[in-house]
Formats: sequence, C-alpha cells, structure tokens
Amino acid sequence: MAVEQQKKKEFLFKVLVIGELGVGKTSIIKRYVHHVFSHGYRATIGVDFALKVLGWDADTTVRLQLWDIAGQERFGNMTRVYYKEAVGAMVVFDVTRATTFEAVSKWKHDLDSKVTLPSGKPIPTVLLANKCDGDGGDARGEWSDTAQLDRYCRDEGFVGWFETSAKENINVEAAAQLLVQRILAND
Ligand code: GTP
Ligand code: MG
Repeated sequence: MAVEQQKKKEFLFKVLVIGELGVGKTSIIKRYVHHVFSHGYRATIGVDFALKVLGWDADTTVRLQLWDIAGQERFGNMTRVYYKEAVGAMVVFDVTRATTFEAVSKWKHDLDSKVTLPSGKPIPTVLLANKCDGDGGDARGEWSDTAQLDRYCRDEGFVGWFETSAKENINVEAAAQLLVQRILAND
C-alpha cells in the first residue's frame, strides 16, 4: 500500500532588529530565543545573530535568522550591508526614553532607503514599544494613546505595533508572530 508523502515546507527568513542604544533589542531576542532576561547592560558591538526555529504549522517550519544590530550603528556606514536580503524587521524603542521614539522614524527611513523586497515593496516591519513593565517609569509622549500610535504606524508604514517587555515576557511572541505572518504573505 502506497504511503502518501506529506509536503513539508521550510523557510529561512532574515529578520533585522533595530533601534536606539539600550532600548532592549538584545534582551528581546534573548527572551524570544533563550527564554531568559538579565538586568545587566552590555552594548552590542556591530551585529549579533540568533536563530529561532518555529513549527509554524503541521507542514511548515520557519527559521528566523535574527540580526541584532547595535544601536550605535545608525551613525556608522554598515547598515546597508547588514540590511541586505532581509525580509522583515522589528524597530524597537524604550517607553521610558522619549528620544528613542523620536529616532524610530530615522531607523525606519534608513531601512526603507536601503532594503526592499524583490518586488520593490518595503519589508514588513513591526514597531515594539519596549519596557512596558513600568520598571523604569514611563515617559509617554506621542505614543500615549492607541489611536495615535495606530495612525503613526499607518503613516510610517509599520504593519503594527506592540507594547512589549523582554523582562516580563509581554507580547514578544505576539510581535514575532505578526511579523512572520506578514513575511509569509509576501512569499
Ligand atoms: P544596544 O546593543 O546598545 O543597541 O542595546 P540593546 O537595544 O540591545 O539593549 P539591551 O537589550 O542590551 O538592554 C539595555 C538595558 O535595558 C539592559 O539593562 C536590560 O536589562 C534593560 N531592558 C531590556 N528590556 C527591558 C524590559 O523589557 N524591561 C526593563 N525594565 N528593562 C529592560
Ligand atoms: Mg544589544
């Protein structure tokens, strides 16, 4: 009797994690991939990598190659190299420091000017409002109300936003889930 072979699909996606110094990019990746958090801060130098393997559904495996780009790289000249062939991105800011939100559009414009999908469309990008656990206080300004942040995301071309905490494990998975959905939709 013939056994029908199931068609298994495998994807490898390069995903960028960008945003200002100390907003929690490395912490979000550590939480997502290794399920840990630490209070200590060691600035990333250049770029770090991590791999997250997702059993997306019964027939689909998704491998996310996460590129953890140092905040200070916005002032360097390597981002074009780092962004190459990425198919998705997370832009992170720190809700306790308003200046990190002001830099979000700078990161987004840097990204959109240097990488697109093969179709020429911008790569799907989610916005993460990190440290929403309230540990370091909250300097809410422009992102204080949901409708405003929704509008901001539409204007700036983000596929969505999440209040996240790497510390308390809030919405890290949800943000990644939305991003992967949008990447798969483009595939
Ligand atoms: P660079 O590598 O310099 O670009 O910084 P980064 O964005 O990778 O920041 P990192 O993850 O190293 O975190 C910076 C500091 O913020 C560390 O002391 C973390 O412990 C702290 N931190 C990160 N995420 C959170 C969070 O969700 N909540 C709180 N309260 N602290 C956080
Ligand atoms: Mg880092």
